[in-house]
Order: sequence, then structure tokens, then C-alpha cells
Amino acid sequence: DVLSIISVVLAYFIGSISFSYLMARWVKGVDIREHGSGNAGATNTLRVLGKGPAVVVLLLDALKGVLAIYIGYLLSGESHFVLALCGMMAIFGHNWPIFLRFRGGKGVATTIGVVISLMFYAGLITGIIAILLIVLTRFVSLGSLVFTIGLPFAVLALQSHYPVPYLWLSIVIAALAIVRHKRNIKSLFQGTERKIGQTEGEKQ
Ligand code: G3P
Repeated sequence: DVLSIISVVLAYFIGSISFSYLMARWVKGVDIREHGSGNAGATNTLRVLGKGPAVVVLLLDALKGVLAIYIGYLLSGESHFVLALCGMMAIFGHNWPIFLRFRGGKGVATTIGVVISLMFYAGLITGIIAILLIVLTRFVSLGSLVFTIGLPFAVLALQSHYPVPYLWLSIVIAALAIVRHKRNIKSLFQGTERKIGQTEGEKQ
């Protein structure tokens, strides 16, 4: 119905609010997409602005996912299909924001918000593995990839817990993450991927 469509469109606009972009403009007066990895996300905020701003960006970008789902819940009357669409569109907005000429982030923080709202336990499993990997290897991108690609498997493992639209959403999330991390994947294989705390290297 109309309200469900409105919630899905709203999800895209909410996702489009790029807090890393706003934070970098506000703190340093720069376009975050011209610095570090060139990505409008929390990891690059850590590189360009430091820990405090990065944590704030991570939380706010995740909150977009939570808010998009909550609005979907209020407007759709708890349709799993609509909620899955809202989650997907929030991540779409984050990756391809209408306000920034469609050059945004890689969707991981917003995915965390969506996953906390819709598939908490599946996210907890892959999230813990991802955090361990990040601590061990210091590659955030590797953790992001394991977190997102692991999601459909975790959802399948906990199948009885989740409606089918959430399985589809987890597959879309994994696919989007792979598409957005193409350069990171290449750099990981070539051994040129930046580790946490490493700021040198060309914009890629
Ligand atoms: O979530 C984004 C992260 O996985 C990689 O970001 O800036 O290192 O390309 P970045």
C-alpha cells in the first residue's frame, strides 16, 4: 500500500544522510571523499578525523538503519517484506546518496543498524567473528566482508528464527558489500590494503 511505499522511499532518503561527509565538513572543512580511501564511511573517518568522530559516525550511520526499519514498522504494520525493503533501501542510500551525487560509502555501518533491528542473532555471530578478525589483522575491510558475506549463512543456520524476506535481504547485503569493496578485495590480495592506524598510501 501507499504507506509501505512511503516508508521504503523514506528509508532511501534517511540512508542518504552521510554522517562521515557532514562530520568531515564540520570538523575539518573538507570533503571526506577527497581524503584517505576516498570512502564516505566510519573507517575513513577514523583515518581522516580520528577515533572520536569515527565512533560518532559509526553510531549515527548505524542509527539510520535502525530508524529506517522503525519507520517501516510503524507504516507497514510489520510486513517482513516491507521491512526487508526498508533495510535494503537505507543501505542503498548510504552507498549511493541522493544528496552527494550518488558517491557515498560501503554500507557496513548502516547494515549493522539494519541487522541489529531485523536479525540480531545472525548478526551477532558473524559480527563477533568479524571483530576478532579486525583485531587480529587490523583490516577493517576484511572484517566488513566476513560480517556481511557470513550473514546469509548465519540466517540459514538459524532458519527457524527468520522469515524468508530476511534471508533475501541478507543475500542482497552480502552482494552489495562485495560490489562496494571491490577495490579493498583487490588490495587485500595484493597486500596493499591499509591497516587501522595506517594513513599513508594513495587515495584508491
Ligand atoms: O566499511 C568500510 C570498510 O570496510 C572499508 O573502508 O575506507 O578502508 O575502504 P575503507
